[in-house]
Amino acid sequence: MSPEASILQDALSIELIRRQLSAKTVARQIYLFGEVASTNDALRHLAKAGAREGTTVLAESQSAGRGRLGKGWFSPFGVNLYASVLFRPAIGPKDAPVFSFIAGLAVADAVRSVGLPAAIKWPNDILVNRKKVAGVLAELATTGDLLDYVILGVGVNLNVERAALVEALGDAGRAAASLRELAGRDIDRNAFTASFLTFLDEWFSVYRDRHAEALLQAWRDRDILTGRRVEVREDGSVFQGRALGVDAEGHLRVEERQGRARQVGAGQVRLLD
Ligand code: BTN
Repeated sequence: MSPEASILQDALSIELIRRQLSAKTVARQIYLFGEVASTNDALRHLAKAGAREGTTVLAESQSAGRGRLGKGWFSPFGVNLYASVLFRPAIGPKDAPVFSFIAGLAVADAVRSVGLPAAIKWPNDILVNRKKVAGVLAELATTGDLLDYVILGVGVNLNVERAALVEALGDAGRAAASLRELAGRDIDRNAFTASFLTFLDEWFSVYRDRHAEALLQAWRDRDILTGRRVEVREDGSVFQGRALGVDAEGHLRVEERQGRARQVGAGQVRLLD
């Protein structure tokens, strides 16, 4: 097959995704772009204009992809998954962290369905063999005490080359990997996207029908941190301790040497053992 034919065959296609998708809410409407600054930003514009819950934005590349804690997200054309999905749950902002776990669970399950042992590192990094293969950026808007909407943005390294990751990200690139590299074969991006969206719809239903506790339990089953020594960077301070797991609000609890438990809301966590 010529390189052009293989690129065309692998292009994202709403039709090919729909053929393999099974979802009630997620992906009710799908927008697919060649390039956007950030799928989260594109979806935020749609949300402000009244887009329905489940509206999904996909892109072949992002010129200003965003990660957590103000970092960028490397988003080369035609090789990975960049997706954002809109939700309008009737919850308050303090319940949003647990709600956002539906995205980490869906990515982890989609990665497992290509045969790789995915685990979740708080809050929503997806690791395989301790290498980061995917991340979640949850962003919300509020009106008074209620969430107006939540955007769950997901980036998954599917077929990106190792050399490209290292060139773009340096040391962080060495701590990352693509599913192709780990599985030893090309990943079908349309099939993976359909699988992710289907799992996201399923976890959304679990959250809606059985509420946060069932979701938290599933998340804890995939958690890689609990019981391990970690280093936490939050609000300019750094400390080490042992991860105790997540609380009912989705915050990470870490025990410091003196036995004091600290709650982490938005930091960066590194595994030490
Ligand atoms: C992280 O691990 O820091 C989160 C990365 C989230 C990246 C995705 S790609 C699709 C969506 N659009 C963005 O700009 N960011 C998220």
